[in-house]
Amino acid sequence: MSVHSSSLVRALTLVGILVTFLLPATAAEASGPLRTHAASRGKFIGTALATGPLSNETSYRNIASTEFNQVTAENAMKWESTQPSQGQFTFSGADAIVNFATQNNQQVHGHTLVWHSQTPGWVQSLSATAMRTAMQTHISTVVGRYADNPAVVSWDVVNEVFDDNGNMRSSFWYNTLGESFIADAFRAARAADSNARLCINDYNVEGINSKSTAMYNLVSRLRGQGVPIDCVGFQGHLAIQYGFPNDLQQNMERFAALGVQVRVTELDVRMQMPRSSSKDTTQATYYRNVVNACMAVTACAGVTIWGFTDRYSWVPDTFSGEGAALIYDENYQRKPSYTAVHDALAGGSSSDTTAPSAPGTPSSSNVTSNAASLTWTASTDTGGSGLAGYNVYREQGATDTQLGQSTTNSIALTGLSPSTQYQVYVRARDGAGNLSANSPLVTFTTLSGPGGSGGCGAAGTVQTQWSGGYVVQPVTVTNTGTSSISGWTVTFTLPAGHTLTGSWNAAVTVSGQTVTARNAGYNGTLAANASTSFGFQVSRPSGNTQTPSGYTCA
Ligand code: G3I
Repeated sequence: MSVHSSSLVRALTLVGILVTFLLPATAAEASGPLRTHAASRGKFIGTALATGPLSNETSYRNIASTEFNQVTAENAMKWESTQPSQGQFTFSGADAIVNFATQNNQQVHGHTLVWHSQTPGWVQSLSATAMRTAMQTHISTVVGRYADNPAVVSWDVVNEVFDDNGNMRSSFWYNTLGESFIADAFRAARAADSNARLCINDYNVEGINSKSTAMYNLVSRLRGQGVPIDCVGFQGHLAIQYGFPNDLQQNMERFAALGVQVRVTELDVRMQMPRSSSKDTTQATYYRNVVNACMAVTACAGVTIWGFTDRYSWVPDTFSGEGAALIYDENYQRKPSYTAVHDALAGGSSSDTTAPSAPGTPSSSNVTSNAASLTWTASTDTGGSGLAGYNVYREQGATDTQLGQSTTNSIALTGLSPSTQYQVYVRARDGAGNLSANSPLVTFTTLSGPGGSGGCGAAGTVQTQWSGGYVVQPVTVTNTGTSSISGWTVTFTLPAGHTLTGSWNAAVTVSGQTVTARNAGYNGTLAANASTSFGFQVSRPSGNTQTPSGYTCA
C-alpha cells in the first residue's frame, strides 16, 4: 500500500510538472516578478544596492529581494570602503550585501577592484613598485575573501580606464604604471578566484563609437596576449535628451565575436526634471530596448539597473536638474519603465498582437552624398506593450533593405551611396515586436561625390535661364567626410555646343565639354559637414534646353 501511494505521489508529481511546463503562462505568471522572467530566459536582472536602506527600509529590502536575481554593491565593495587605510580591510558593507544575496538566492557581481575614483589618497601617492604591489594585494584580499562563496560570481576588475575620446584615461594608475596595470589586475584576480568571471567596465561604450572601439581593440589585444578578460560591461547611464544608442545590439555582437560575455552593468535613464508622462514613456522605451538588445544576444548575460528607486539614485547629486532615472518612483511605486523591463523580459509571453499605427510620410533634409535626415509624424501604440521605435527601409521591390532604426520620429541616415535615388519608408515597432504598416514613401537623391572620410559632394542648381543661356548658382560643395578638408575640385559636363562664359568663387578651367572648378584661395577649407558654393554662366544654342550634369567632387 505504501509502495502504491508513493508511486501515485510520484505519478501525480510528474503530471504536475508536465502540466506546469506545457500549459501557457497564467496571468499570475505573466505578471510575475522580473527575476522569474529573466531566469526563464537564462539571464540575470540585477540592481545596485545601497547599504543604508538595505539595513533599515523594509520596502527597499522587499523589492530588492523579490524582483532581482543579481545584485551589485553600489559603493560597499569599492576600494575606499574595503581598504580605507593601507592593510586595514573592512568588509562590513560588502558582507551585508553578500549575506542579503545569499539569503535571497541572488548572485553578486563585485564592483569594483581598480578604479581611479573612490580610491583613497594613500594609494594614489605610492611609488610605481609600491602601487603595483598594493593593487595586487588589494585584489587578492578582496577577491580572495569571496572566492569560495558561490554567490559571488563575477567582478569588475578594472573600471573606466578610457577617457571620453577613447584614449587611456590619465589616471594615477595609468600615469604611474602605464597600461600594464590592466593586465596585471586581471591576472591577480584570476589568481585569487579561478572561477569568477572577470569584467572590464565603462560608460559611453553602449553604441559603436571611438570609445567603444578603443575598448574593443584593448580587449582583443589583451585576450590575444592571454590576459584573462572574460566579460565586457556596458554601464548604460543613458539620458532621454541625448538619444538612444540604436547600435547597442550590434555593438554587443561585435564584442561577443571576440569570445567575451557582455552585460549591461549600471543601467539608468535620466531625464530633465520635472517628470512628465511623455518623458516616462520615452524612458520606458529606452529600458525596453536595452533589455531587448540583451535578450537578442546570446552572449549577453543580463542587465543590472543602477538602483531601482528614485528615492536613492546618484543622478540628482551629479547632474543638476536631472533625475527620475529608475524604474520605481521615490515612493516605491512602479513606473512605466518597470512595465517595459517586465514585458521585455517576459518576451514571447506578451499578449499584445496589435501593431502600432503607421508613421506619417517622412520628409527629408540635409541630404549630402552619403547622408540624409528624415523626420515623420509619430505612431501610436494601443496594444499594451508600448511603442519601441521605428525601422527605416529602402524600397527596392522584392528585397527591401533596412537602413536603420530609431527610437524617435527622426533618423540621421549615413552610409548612403552618392548620386543615388532613395525611396524610403518607415515602420513602427512595439514592445512585443509587432510592426506597423509602411508609412508613405519619401524620395530623395543623394549628391554626387565620393563621400566617406574627407570626401565631398557637389550639386548645381539652375538659377535663371533664357533661350540662349543660363546661370548655375549655387553649385553647393559640401564636405561629407568626418574631418576637415583643405581644398576641393568639382567637375561637371556641359552639354554639346554649350560654352562657359563666366564663373565666380572658383578657379575654372575647361577641356572639351568637361569643366573643372577648383576652390578659390578663400573657400577651400571646409570643416566636416560645412558647405560653400560657386557659380557660373553658360551660353547655349538658341532653343536648346539642356543643362550641365555629372557634378562630382574630390
Ligand atoms: O557616505 C557618504 C556620507 O556619509 C556623506 O554624508 C555624503 C555627503 O556627500 O557622501 C556619502 O558618500 C557618497 C557615496 O556615493 C554614498 O552615497 C559620495 O559622496 C558619493 O560621491 C558617492 O557617489 C557614488 C559614485 O559612484 C562615486 O563616484 C554613487 O553613489 C555611485 O552610484 C556611483 O557609481 C558609479 C559606479 O561605481 C561606476 N560607474 C559610474 C557610477 C555613477 O557615477
